[in-house]
Amino acid sequence: MSDVAVIDRRKAFTERAQRANLLEYWAVGYRTSKPETGVVPYLWRWSDVKSLMEEAGRLVGIDESERRGLVLANPGLGGLPYMTNTLFGDVQLLTPGEAAPAHRHTTSASRFFMEGTGGYTTVEGERCTMGPGDLVINPSWAWHDHGNDGKDEITYLNILDVPLATHLGCVFYDYDYAREGDSDKHFQSVRKPINASHDLYATGGIMPKFVTRSGKPYSPQLVYRWESVITALDRMKSYRGDPYDGIIVEYVNPESGGSVMPTMSFNMQLLKAGERTFTHRHTASTIYCVVQGRGYTQVEETRLEWGRNDIFVVPSWSWHEHVNLERNAEALIFSVTDMPAVQKLGLYREEGKTAEGEIVRVER
Ligand SMILES: [Fe+2]
Repeated sequence: MSDVAVIDRRKAFTERAQRANLLEYWAVGYRTSKPETGVVPYLWRWSDVKSLMEEAGRLVGIDESERRGLVLANPGLGGLPYMTNTLFGDVQLLTPGEAAPAHRHTTSASRFFMEGTGGYTTVEGERCTMGPGDLVINPSWAWHDHGNDGKDEITYLNILDVPLATHLGCVFYDYDYAREGDSDKHFQSVRKPINASHDLYATGGIMPKFVTRSGKPYSPQLVYRWESVITALDRMKSYRGDPYDGIIVEYVNPESGGSVMPTMSFNMQLLKAGERTFTHRHTASTIYCVVQGRGYTQVEETRLEWGRNDIFVVPSWSWHEHVNLERNAEALIFSVTDMPAVQKLGLYREEGKTAEGEIVRVER
């Protein structure tokens, strides 16, 4: 057979295979030598987010929006409402007196409180008050509603595992709080002492013996206070810390010592004045929110310069290092990672670079 005849037969074969919804293994390009998610390193400047949020506060009613959020869309994902291939994030604003009605979903959620006072979120009947720097977790399928009892606008960052749960085919939303038979059809009554789980679990190293262990895959403690975290970090400041992240602590489930929810882990890190971390990369993606300080994170070729309340993304398997540019002040950065999900699936891999630039395997 002539070369031309062979080419024609192969072309015809390809077309017939495609009509039968069959692709030639040797021609499809999913066998990448490293993770390729499309996610790019990116930073949302707080001044931009805040002014647009305030405008949304004037233009869009909470009744029509259910949640008045601006979704942080990674520019590498072609308009999808995701920050990374596994994590979703949005910033929400409530004006004084506003409340967002109860709903629940199979996705796991979290609120990291940014600005204002008088905010709360009620999770399964427990009203969790929120002030700047506080974290409230919202486990899968827990009813939750949010409100602002203060005199000023409140803003908070929500991080959820929406893309991960979506790709696993596990997303359900439920808006029908009315059938729960509560006194109000749209908002939960407060059925437990305010911040009950904080009272019970928030002191590290001790557990209430009169409460039965839940055995659930998420933390019974729903509120994690800024004061506790900053006090702990302050105590640890004289230590060397992690070569790649400085003095970093993880919010943990007091029952198990593991991550607070099965798919996401939450951390706070302190970078000492002038600190530059070593470089590493890992198969977990991370979202950061700067609580205090000024510096930059170098992600591969991209330099993300950050200041207070800026939010940024480091994609999976991207070399990155953090630099605190202040000579006399510490930087504090909150972060959320999908690492627990990746580890449970046996897919976690990490590499670091030594001072000499040698690449070494890191075990966690
Ligand atoms: Fe929600």
